Parts: sequence; structure tokens; C-alpha cells
Amino acid sequence: MDVIVAGNREELGKAREAAGPGRYALVPTMGALHEGHRSLIRLAREQADQVVVSIFVNPLQFGPHEDFSRYPRTFEADLGVCAEEGVRVVFAPAVADMYLPDRQVAVSAGAMGSVVEGAFRPGHFDGVLTVVLKLFNLVQPDVAVFGQKDAQQLALVRRMVADLNLPIAIVGAPTVREADGLALSSRNRYLSPADRMTALNLSKALRAGAVQREPERIKDAARAVLETAARFDPPLLLDYLALVDPATFTEVTEDHRGEAILAVAAKVGTTRLIDNVVLALG
Ligand code: PAJ
Repeated sequence: MDVIVAGNREELGKAREAAGPGRYALVPTMGALHEGHRSLIRLAREQADQVVVSIFVNPLQFGPHEDFSRYPRTFEADLGVCAEEGVRVVFAPAVADMYLPDRQVAVSAGAMGSVVEGAFRPGHFDGVLTVVLKLFNLVQPDVAVFGQKDAQQLALVRRMVADLNLPIAIVGAPTVREADGLALSSRNRYLSPADRMTALNLSKALRAGAVQREPERIKDAARAVLETAARFDPPLLLDYLALVDPATFTEVTEDHRGEAILAVAAKVGTTRLIDNVVLALG
């Protein structure tokens, strides 16, 4: 069956009529679809009768010095991926269809939006939650799928659903990696072969941390790998290494029991990469 492309609320309504009734799943994306996105779509298909993929590079979540204008846009290829994966509707609005020129009201990610990743990207999670809420209102899905790759984003979407009483089930999907451990990302296409060698140390550091048991040892083992990679050519430029509670993203204490997330962010050349693993402590 062909994919129906919709660009605004009216077209979405028509697309939903054409697609038919049943349970709807939404997979929000910024396009440049890769195997990670495909795995989300497959999980969405298991959760619902119809899958809607949104493709929208959201200006609100990019800082003034970030890569909004050079973010990869591969719409035709993305439509091909969606067709292959049995997606029924692609929602691909223009910026002007999403945001009124005089828009005022937005979602605040609260304190949880200004720690860890949020500390390096002021306003980023407000922009993410604002667009996600708008996509939820436009598509009105029963379930939405998000990747664990962006762990703080997933946690904040869950928080928004709880705090604002949204009638949508949130499903988290495991991180898809290359055979050598590199987490798939739309930004990986910017990496030269030398950059990529350095970038591999993000996942290597997480694996080194994951074999330890106590918080300080976990972070020390990961930090040792990152410090070595800081002397590579090109160097790994660390933004943060954090061991946090998966629900709140506050740093765990030495006596923490249960799950924790070891999260890392670093730049290689001009490309900024993030990765994380979920660990069981105690
Ligand atoms: P984007 O970076 O395109 O990612 C879309 C979804 O794919 C997110 O839920 C992300 O966590 C997931 N994803 C990315 N890489 C993955 C990987 N290697 N394995 C598994 N899942 C992966 O995240 C966004 O877009 C935006 O912030 C968005 C939620 C669409 C709001 O604009």
C-alpha cells in the first residue's frame, strides 16, 4: 500500500480517513532515517494497526550555534524507508504549518530539562516537548515510540505525559548500533573515517563502565577510556559523563539501587554525539 503524505492538520484528517480505523502509533522523527528509526517503526507496527511517521526538523530544539540549517534532509529516501516498513501516513509539515509567526505558549521541561544534556543545550528540551505535544495533538495517536538513544528525551516525554495527563502510551525502543558499537545517528554521516575511529570511544567507554558495579568505579572506568581518546587525532572533546536515575536524570548516589543510566556526550571535530547504556546497580 502506498504511503500517504500529509503536510497539515486537514491533510492529516483526510489521510487518517483513507488509512482507516484502528489503533494508531506515532513515530516522531527529524528524517534522515536509518536502521534506528526503522526499528522504532517495526516496534510501532507491533503496537498498532496503523503507523504514522512524522518528519520535521524542528527549529525550536536547535540552539543558535547548532546545526539546524545543515541538518541532513533526505525526504525522498525517507519516504522509501517508510514504504518498505509498511508506514501508512507520513506527516511532513513545513515550519510555517507548525508554528504561528506570533506564537507565545510553549512547554517547559522544568528542572529536569536543564540538567545533563539540557545543561549543554539551553532550551533544547522545551523545544522538543513543545513539538512533541503539537505532534500528539495533530496526529492523536494511541501510542508513540521513542528511542532509548535519546534517554533524557524519552524520560521527559514520559514526564510530560504524566504531568499533563496525555492519553498516549509511550513505548521506549532499544538503541540500534553498528557492529563495532557506534550508536546509529543521523549525524554519523558527518564523520570522516578518522573521526569515526575517535567516535567509537563513546560506546567503548560505556562498555568499560558497564562491567563495574559501584557508581564511582563505573564512572572511573568510562572516564579512563574517554581520557585516552581525548589524546587521539582528532580528539574526543568530552561534554559530560553522567550516571543518573533513569526517571529524574539526577546523579545517582553510591548507595543507589536499581537501574541507572550512564550517559555521555562529546564532540568529534564539529559533530556532537551522544550515547548511553542502562545499568542495573546494587
Ligand atoms: P531523531 O533524532 O530523528 O530521532 C527520532 C527517534 O529515533 C527518537 O526517538 C530517537 O531516540 C530514535 N533514535 C535515534 N537513533 C536511534 C538509534 N540508534 N537506535 C534507536 N532509536 C534511535 O529525536 C528526535 O528526532 C527529535 O527530538 C523528535 C523527537 C522527533 C522531536 O523533534
